Amino acid sequence: MKPGGGPYCSPSVIAADYTRLDRAVAQAVRGGADWLHLDVMDGCFVPNITLGPPVVAAIRKICPLPLDVHLMIVEPRRHLDAFIRAGADWITVHVETCPHLHSDLALIRQAGRRAGVTLNPLTPVEALEPVLPFADLVLVMGVNPGFSGQKLIPETLAKVEWLRRRRSEGGYRFLIEFDGGVNPANASAILAAGCDVLVAGSAVYEAPNPARAIRALKAKR
Ligand code: DX5
Ligand code: ZN
Repeated sequence: MKPGGGPYCSPSVIAADYTRLDRAVAQAVRGGADWLHLDVMDGCFVPNITLGPPVVAAIRKICPLPLDVHLMIVEPRRHLDAFIRAGADWITVHVETCPHLHSDLALIRQAGRRAGVTLNPLTPVEALEPVLPFADLVLVMGVNPGFSGQKLIPETLAKVEWLRRRRSEGGYRFLIEFDGGVNPANASAILAAGCDVLVAGSAVYEAPNPARAIRALKAKR
């Protein structure tokens, strides 16, 4: 996968049937998904609680796709090793939770994984300027993190445009991912802003045919 080579899709199992995660994985593979997005929430940084390293490790056993792990937790540094050992391939931390962000990203990379950084809707994207050389992925939140099925906050698209411009000006290689409120009606605008990877939870796993929903998102231009 390379910047500008998309659209890529990383369906989020947050909206899947938790009693059948094996089916959610099979649907993602059948739909041609590029990654599988795992939303980790601790009930502190965000109001919801979802899954942790044991579930990531279980999915690792049955999923051939790279695991795109989004940490919506306080003090992620304390848990990076557990997620690395669980088999996460891409590990994305929130800039709001990492006072030592440079060393957090370095730790992820030193473990041979890909380091991502993300920001809440009202965190200025310029806050990421110093991080850009050290990130393999920048994830733009389209909603306030915590729950699937929310409406995209349109102002967040400008962050994608800023990131694409700074990536080209700086010659950086990070991928741009967009997460939250993605659906077939807004996917083209998100891609046009410069997004490479679309995360979709409810638009995929609440669709009658999740595999077809993934293919439809990847067909968007
Ligand atoms: C929000 C999560 C997103 C979201 C995706 O906190 O990070 O991944 O659940 O779900 P949809 O696509 O339904 O907004
Ligand atoms: Zn997410």
